Amino acid sequence: MRVWDLPTRLFHWTLVALVALLWVSGEFGGLDLTLSLPGKRVLYLSNMDVHALAGQGVFVLLVFRLLWGLWGSTTARFAHFVSGPRAVWAELRALLAGRVPDAVGHNPLGALSILAMLALLAVQVGTGLFARDDFFFEGPLAHRVTEETSERLTGLHHENFEILQALILLHVGAVLYYWARGRNLVVPMITGRKVDLPPQAAAQIRLASPLARPGHPGPGDGRAGGDPHSVSFPAGALCP
Ligand code: HEM
Ligand code: HEM
Repeated sequence: MRVWDLPTRLFHWTLVALVALLWVSGEFGGLDLTLSLPGKRVLYLSNMDVHALAGQGVFVLLVFRLLWGLWGSTTARFAHFVSGPRAVWAELRALLAGRVPDAVGHNPLGALSILAMLALLAVQVGTGLFARDDFFFEGPLAHRVTEETSERLTGLHHENFEILQALILLHVGAVLYYWARGRNLVVPMITGRKVDLPPQAAAQIRLASPLARPGHPGPGDGRAGGDPHSVSFPAGALCP
């Protein structure tokens, strides 16, 4: 059964690639690029140009994810995967009892870390726009604020990344822990498909598509399609 649509998967793996690029260009440097263009022209991008371009790529991804969280497929929607403290507590208790509960889409605890990562990424882009390095580079909005403010935001850019790094480690650690306990979340994030879902849960997923309109069948999984806006699967519901 298809649980992750293509846009969500592309969002995830492009984000991973861009964050890796941002980490290398931000922390280590050396990613200067010389590109040959038609007409024997040459485009030179300094390491920080690459950094800022990748950062703006993350901005585009975040805007997309926000919109997809409102109007995308069932499992991509915030309303589907953001759950209250009771569901988070239930999952924590299950984990502490040695069980690894599965969920249709993100589980309640994972959802919390995902929201935190998205928020930290937004702060990272926001502060990057006003940041400057010790040489000649400055973010596209740095000239709009005083040097002192820009320096403060550069400091925040640095500190926020430390927190983001810790969360990413936790995220990958959690994915590996689930894997070690027999729940492979990575393959579905690549292929979109999950094989071990109970049929009643799987039947609730609708994949959004520009072609799916109210009352018209959506592409889904070849099952009953329909209006992606009329889904009522309980948020954060865990499968046995
Ligand atoms: C830069 C590093 C990473 C960031 C910022 C990141 C961020 C995210 C985000 C935002 C989501 C939510 C996807 C969505 O609903 O749109 C997600 C889900 C997921 N990520 Fe990552 N990720 C990173 C690295 C990785 C890596 C290296 C792996 C594989 C080992 C991985 C595996 C997954 C999986 C399996 C899910 C789905 C979890 C679930 O089933 O609930 N991520 N990640
Ligand atoms: C429009 C987007 C962005 C711009 C213009 C930007 C700009 C900058 C600038 C000017 C610096 C140099 C600061 C210094 O030398 O002290 C920097 C460092 C850095 N940036 Fe960005 N950035 C952006 C987005 C991002 C994003 C999205 C990430 C990660 C997800 C990121 C990660 C980093 C890291 C790891 C450093 C090194 C920090 C350090 O000094 O330890 N940046 N960025």
